[in-house]
Amino acid sequence: MKYGFIGLGNMASAIIEGMISSGRFSDDQILGFNRSEGKTQKLKETVGLIPCASAAEAATQADVIVLAVKPQMMGGVMEEIARVVGTDKKVISIAAGLPTAWYEERLPKGVSVVRVMPNINAKVKAAVTAVCGGSCASEEDIQTALGIFETIGKAYRMEEKMFSGFGAIGGASGAFVYLYIDALADAGVRAGFPRPLAVELATQTVLGSARLVEETGEHPIALMNQVCSPAGTTIEGVMTLKKRGFEAAVQDGIEAIIRRDQELSKG
Ligand SMILES: NC(=O)c1ccc[n+]([C@@H]2O[C@H](COP(=O)([O-])OP(=O)(O)OC[C@H]3O[C@@H](n4cnc5c(N)ncnc54)[C@H](OP(=O)(O)O)[C@@H]3O)[C@@H](O)[C@H]2O)c1
Repeated sequence: MKYGFIGLGNMASAIIEGMISSGRFSDDQILGFNRSEGKTQKLKETVGLIPCASAAEAATQADVIVLAVKPQMMGGVMEEIARVVGTDKKVISIAAGLPTAWYEERLPKGVSVVRVMPNINAKVKAAVTAVCGGSCASEEDIQTALGIFETIGKAYRMEEKMFSGFGAIGGASGAFVYLYIDALADAGVRAGFPRPLAVELATQTVLGSARLVEETGEHPIALMNQVCSPAGTTIEGVMTLKKRGFEAAVQDGIEAIIRRDQELSKG
């Protein structure tokens, strides 16, 4: 099976690196085309990507076509590839905000389309990715997509109507985590730590706490209760955050992301 990437930017590079380093895909299976040449050359040197001269060439040579250009460039790419894509090929798109029906309208009838939404943590093989099939996608097509995206983290199959919520929880909320790490680091500087050490301490604490939730399978509140001793220091901090509306602020933030996404998708 050959995988042809169209667009070799940040996300495609991370996905291709994940595929190769997993050992489940070999370099002679992965080909790609990018508008500017430098990124193609770099991937040729680092992971052995086979360069293509055009999007149409990548689509012609591939069994699975992975669309990884920005959403606003996707219309042009579809015009280029539609004439060489038949029902023997599978199309996977990672573009944000474009539903499977959008591709189906632009491709010959019956072509399988799978929509995927990874996140930037793909760069460190810790992405969470949502996967859904369009009206012509088979179980095998979904499994093909899951097989690719499990090489860069965890991949979850879900209904397309969940993509907006997933984009907030599984994607945009990363910005909240950066904000939290920065706020924690600021507090660390105030407590007397040099900033680089304060950032490192905050980052490692977030990483460790997330791992503890993952590896113990315990509810986050059960873990929180374990670190709040009666009349101790931590409960004072927790109560202060609750009084300041910490949880409500996070939930309102997620709701605002979903609302904006829905506004944008209506045009
Ligand atoms: N970044 C994220 O966190 C994230 C998360 C989920 C989904 N996505 C989706 O992933 C897609 C790619 O995002 P990205 O962050 O990887 O963007 P990116 O780094 O800008 O990569 C897009 C690449 O597409 C190339 N390109 C543009 N038009 C092209 C064309 N007609 N034919 C071939 N290549 C073309 C660009 O080439 P140049 O070198 O010429 O610019 C660029 O290298 C987007 O649709 C985005 O919505 C991104």
